[in-house]
Amino acid sequence: MDITTLTPLFNFDEMAGAAQNSNGLTGRDILSVAQFDREMLSYIFARGREMREMVQRVGGVDMLKGYVLACLFYEPSTRTSSSFIAAMERLGGSVIPITSGVKFSSVSKGETLADTVRTLEQYADAIVLRHPEIGAAQKAADYASVPVLNAGDGAGEHPTQALLDLFTIREELGRVDGLNVAMVGDLRYGRTVHSLTKLLLRYDVSLRFVSPEILRLPLNIMNKVIDASVDVRETHEVADVIENADVLYVTRVQKERFSDLAQYEGVKDHYVITPDLMEKAKNKMVVMHPLPRVGEIHYSVDNDPRAAYFRQVKNGMFIRMALLAAVLGKA
Ligand code: NCD
Repeated sequence: MDITTLTPLFNFDEMAGAAQNSNGLTGRDILSVAQFDREMLSYIFARGREMREMVQRVGGVDMLKGYVLACLFYEPSTRTSSSFIAAMERLGGSVIPITSGVKFSSVSKGETLADTVRTLEQYADAIVLRHPEIGAAQKAADYASVPVLNAGDGAGEHPTQALLDLFTIREELGRVDGLNVAMVGDLRYGRTVHSLTKLLLRYDVSLRFVSPEILRLPLNIMNKVIDASVDVRETHEVADVIENADVLYVTRVQKERFSDLAQYEGVKDHYVITPDLMEKAKNKMVVMHPLPRVGEIHYSVDNDPRAAYFRQVKNGMFIRMALLAAVLGKA
């Protein structure tokens, strides 16, 4: 297909003028979901839908031609790193991928995060950072003059994941208000749960938290839930929530955050979503997972149309395209 025939639909440059005033994201860091109000979320989701349409029709554009993104990952990643790379490349930009382990970079020689970030900004227009410490993205942003996008800071936040999670809920079920969202698994260390919970408090939702006792949602986040006066309940059993759930958001027990591995072994196989369990769920509901899964959702659930986790993966690319375009002032 000849892209020129599609120019009127995807004239991002023309949109840029108006959008720059309204989105408020140009040049900004993305560190926490706290910075997103509902208006901004609608804006990103609208851009995400445009990105999806563009990818489906022409695969890519050169909106970010000449722009470089540094992807700096101090922790393993498949989806987050690949989707940021794919997002940048589909928009015509390029990537410095420090994603196959910082052990091959000067980090292994003892370079500080501050110096690594101040180096990368000499080459790149934005930096995506994943790091094992809570607050690392904020620290990097304090040093960097280019936008820093938090791709997970320890057990802290994972804001871009929460945006794609919320987008998936919206696209799968057509709305967010009025939904019953059940989160299952490691609510203590799961940063995607932390970010998504905070984001959902902007909506009129019911929240159900299902975890073993030692993996309950941290108190500081539960206090935010209570302050928001949403309908909330905690339980240890998926059976207590499955019938009413519109969204079952399942998570992996975060082995890497445990100091006592025996404790991890004790809780790692606590929940498994099976076809039998799915029979008790609504016909119109979705099972989501930020992935990777390590046994929490049985493979035989994958063919159930309600299993949305791979569609969720794809949405990640569209949302990251929207975010990159926004922070780089092109949408
Ligand atoms: C999650 C993460 O890294 O926090 N993965 C992801 O980004 N999709 C979830 C996990 O590792 O369990």
